[in-house]
Amino acid sequence: MEKREQWGSRAGFILAAAGSAIGLGNIWRFPYIVYDNGGGAFLIPYFFALLTAGIPILLLEFGIGRLGNGSAPLSLSRLSRKFEWLGWWQVMICFVITTYYVAVVAWAVSYFFYSFNLSWGEDTGSFLFGTYLGVPGDVVTASGWNLGGIKLQVLLPLIAVWAGVYFILYRGVRKGIEKISKLFMPVLFVLMILFVIRAITLPGAAVGLNHLLTPNFGEILPAFLGGTNPEWFSVWMAAYGQIFFSLSVAFAIMITYSSYMDKKQDVNNSGFIMAFSNSGFEFLAAIGVFAAIGFMAVTTGSDVKDVAKAGVGLAFVVFPQIINTFPMLNGFFGALFFLSLVIAGFTSLISIIEVLIAAVMDKFRLSRKGAVNAVVGVCAVVSILYTTGAGVVLLDIVDHFINNFGIVISGLLELVLVGWFFKVSRIREENNLVSDFRVGAWWNVMIMGVTPLMLLIMTYQNFALELTTAYEDYPFHALLTFGWIMVALTLVIAVTLAYVFKWRTDINQEVSRT
Ligand code: ALA
Repeated sequence: MEKREQWGSRAGFILAAAGSAIGLGNIWRFPYIVYDNGGGAFLIPYFFALLTAGIPILLLEFGIGRLGNGSAPLSLSRLSRKFEWLGWWQVMICFVITTYYVAVVAWAVSYFFYSFNLSWGEDTGSFLFGTYLGVPGDVVTASGWNLGGIKLQVLLPLIAVWAGVYFILYRGVRKGIEKISKLFMPVLFVLMILFVIRAITLPGAAVGLNHLLTPNFGEILPAFLGGTNPEWFSVWMAAYGQIFFSLSVAFAIMITYSSYMDKKQDVNNSGFIMAFSNSGFEFLAAIGVFAAIGFMAVTTGSDVKDVAKAGVGLAFVVFPQIINTFPMLNGFFGALFFLSLVIAGFTSLISIIEVLIAAVMDKFRLSRKGAVNAVVGVCAVVSILYTTGAGVVLLDIVDHFINNFGIVISGLLELVLVGWFFKVSRIREENNLVSDFRVGAWWNVMIMGVTPLMLLIMTYQNFALELTTAYEDYPFHALLTFGWIMVALTLVIAVTLAYVFKWRTDINQEVSRT
């Protein structure tokens, strides 16, 4: 097999993979998802999804990358020529995610600086949406789009993030990604610990933690088992969604990263270590965030559930409010929180873009330098869309559709194609041969049966919901353009890349199916 760039060490690989997994999803998404889906009881579907889907798919992707020894489209082509388009679809999904993920990291950079003198003022909601993002009032009216112009205060940090990304990816796998992960991951861990210690020692912290951890089993069970939530199934689906996004599986990252592994190094143990570090970090973040929310609720005499708001709101509206009410060192703790968000987001971002770079290098036989110039150039230009006043609304729609219809369906197809049309036991055997411990036949059952079934139900549910209710009541033209057409385009471009453009790399080392 041809020589590819490689990680310098096993620890380097695990840290880079953990750096990819631990991202915005862990710090602002997980705490709210747990809270919104039955508190402590959510941990049951969460662990179920982790063990039946997250870890098995992670090991599958590690196996595909090791066997294929290439980017996602190349590795999948080497398993079977018929799988190439799926690799490109995942690459296109990464392209879409890159363009908005970078914007959120840029917001976090701005907020890091705003922390020092609490520039967001008292009304943090108006500051975010009005002063900072400049969302025009009629942003998505039925009459058409009003993008509201580019906001310099968003564009400048965006350019800074792109410069950082360019520098790291230009330096390559070992000197760039591995080095930065080795530096950033321990720093992130220390920042998070400091933040959590401060948060749990605030008055009222226990109130928030109780809300987070008190299990409401009624939320996750069907009525005949005593459940009280008619939508109980959606809680299980939320657990799968969280695991996919958070572990960075089903969007080609782990295939790409494992293709840079030393083929003699352990796979199974590394996968478990990485998955549990990711979950551990999520819990840590959730404890910190909810302790702080409890403090805010007690200080302002409001209810925890009124303080805890989803996504963007939680990190960029509620958190600044909480920081305002801290008894001392407000700026310092604000900076700590937003720096964690920047670091976590940055290492995930570079992993998402590396998927594109590796694919372009393989297909068109470009040098890393050429591929980085092309990929970063195109992504950076498209990402400017998210610096406009309409950016946050576009981001919300694109994120919703690419997660529910891109990642979930491409994950399902990956399991069906590789699980049923390739001798998947071969992947398990190859992984087991070099690993500290063996994975048993249960893995095949998950890859071929349980997980595809769950993802199929999830896909059906997503379609049913989407076709009956307009997401967030956005107008139809907005959902059509930035939702349905956007996802359809990723698929069309993927198929074109697979079937119209020829490989300039030798892909003849097809993996034997015996
Ligand atoms: N896994 C990355 C995150 O959690 C994408 O943000």
